[in-house]
Amino acid sequence: MSGFPTIATTEELLRFYAEAGYDEAMEEQPVDRFAEAQAAAPQRAATPTHPAAAERRPTPAVPSGAAATIPAAAVPDGEQAQRARALARQANTLEELREIVAAFDGCNLKFTAKSTVFADGMPGADLMLVGEAPGSEEDRAGLPFVGRSGQLLDRILAAIGRERATGAYIANVVPWRPPGNRDPSPLETEICRPFIERQIELAAPKVIVTLGNPSTKLLLKTQTGIMRMRGNWQTFVSPSGVQIPAMPTLHPAYLLRNPAHKKLAWRDFLEVKAKLASLQG
Ligand code: URA
Repeated sequence: MSGFPTIATTEELLRFYAEAGYDEAMEEQPVDRFAEAQAAAPQRAATPTHPAAAERRPTPAVPSGAAATIPAAAVPDGEQAQRARALARQANTLEELREIVAAFDGCNLKFTAKSTVFADGMPGADLMLVGEAPGSEEDRAGLPFVGRSGQLLDRILAAIGRERATGAYIANVVPWRPPGNRDPSPLETEICRPFIERQIELAAPKVIVTLGNPSTKLLLKTQTGIMRMRGNWQTFVSPSGVQIPAMPTLHPAYLLRNPAHKKLAWRDFLEVKAKLASLQG
């Protein structure tokens, strides 16, 4: 027997989708894919097959159907990561970087997200926290960590005497919500890497906290899992060679699922508090 649940009603099916992260339609209006296929069929019949004739065929100014929603230039590839690196280097302030990231069209995630979720908190704070990617609530609000894990993060910050508005700067390695809350792919993450690295350089915190596995692996260039990394000071090295102490810790979403591990995160944040105090003197 399969381990999948038996779904008897539409309501159960919708609940199953919502729990799996598929909680919204991708388009405002339904799309009739059968009608699209029928409309395309006569065109295909008339398409010349001789290569010379094919060369003469004009390129449509606006692609039809599904292709129209994702510009061809946005297909993620190595060139997009290179473009992101060049663009990120052009930013001299966080505001300039925000504008560059919002205008960047080289990551497909942007085309399914509602917002570019750039940062929250206090730019220039001595503490910067970096998560993975926005979820649906962050996408709606345009701000990182506003859902349940964000509320837990605020409580953790309060435990070390900080408030997000005045004592922390918060961002994600990927600024667009992956559809259905899936994990960002390695390529999508690589494309976004130059932006978060530049964001850290420009924010210039004294201490970074990497929240969870993806952020820790990307920013600290390690393959070691978060359970072994957490609680041990590391060094973030930016592309221009700036070095910043970094504490890897457990992601708040993980802590919500595994409350017994909250004490580990608390311990890590006490380390962070002590480090910040020692750097102030
Ligand atoms: N999880 C993250 O990693 N980032 C957010 O902004 C929200 C949830």
